[in-house]
Amino acid sequence: MNLVQEGLALGIPAPGPDAHQRPSAARIHRMWFGTEGALPADEDLARKILSAFPCEPAAAKINRAHHLLITEALAARGISQVLDIGCGDALPRPQSGDGLLFAQNTHDVVQQHSRSASVIYVDIDHDVVARRRSLLDHAPTASRPKAVLADVTDMARLLTRLVADGHLTHDRPVAALLHDVLPWIPDDARVRDALAYLRTWLPPGSALAITHATADFSPTWVERVQDVYGEEGIAFRPLDRQSITSLFGDWGDLYGGPVRTVPTARHQRNHPFATVPDYVSAAYAGVAIKPQ
Ligand SMILES: C[S@@+](CC[C@H](N)C(=O)[O-])C[C@H]1O[C@@H](n2cnc3c(N)ncnc32)[C@H](O)[C@@H]1O
Repeated sequence: MNLVQEGLALGIPAPGPDAHQRPSAARIHRMWFGTEGALPADEDLARKILSAFPCEPAAAKINRAHHLLITEALAARGISQVLDIGCGDALPRPQSGDGLLFAQNTHDVVQQHSRSASVIYVDIDHDVVARRRSLLDHAPTASRPKAVLADVTDMARLLTRLVADGHLTHDRPVAALLHDVLPWIPDDARVRDALAYLRTWLPPGSALAITHATADFSPTWVERVQDVYGEEGIAFRPLDRQSITSLFGDWGDLYGGPVRTVPTARHQRNHPFATVPDYVSAAYAGVAIKPQ
């Protein structure tokens, strides 16, 4: 079965004939890291986004640096099953500027702690999954990560499939990383239902890590970005702090106490952008642990 057939079987429509004439949020995300593959339609929209919110590439990098730090922290805690949901594929060449940091994959970080750890990349975008798969073809077979096409809002089907295929087990904790994926889903209720299902399903000791765009620090800029994407038919939906915090349910914080949702660059003390103003990240981060 090819990727398009795989998607159709999961209810994910095949990319339309004009897919490459229209901009894609996943390809624009790559552009902020200098990764190749942007098309003219992406470049046009990227220019409009930059004029609405010049900090957008910095915001993407803040998010990515946080992703790598949290992956490291959870792997160091001994979690050896990692679901990278809405993984994207913005992987610059190691030699390009700050590429050395951002060229790291989730599995590169996790497998420094456990060679046999299971890492599963999940995305709804056919191109992202195809690129991830071709990259993973070169990974060592014993611990080869998987890349699957799935819609995060179809959580029950995703988890059932991963268990049936032997990629995930319910016997030990899982780190579910949802970094900058939920703002791209227009339906609030579906997001809440998917997260509720995930929290119920995950074994005790599992981690839920979320970053989410917000307009709390710079409403005018973020609303302009939302309008620019909206004009191209791309849903982008920032949330306020309280709505983002509610996605963690009643789980406690990674470091104890109630879950903290803080501006992304300030979540981890050793974040390389820890001193930038909050409006630059335009997002909150939180990490919660399922009680035993
Ligand atoms: C901005 S990128 C985030 C990349 C990465 N998580 C990071 O933090 O650097 C958002 C990704 O979410 C994916 N995405 C959007 N909606 C999704 C959905 N419903 N299910 C799964 N992935 C989705 C997009 O295709 C895109 O690759």
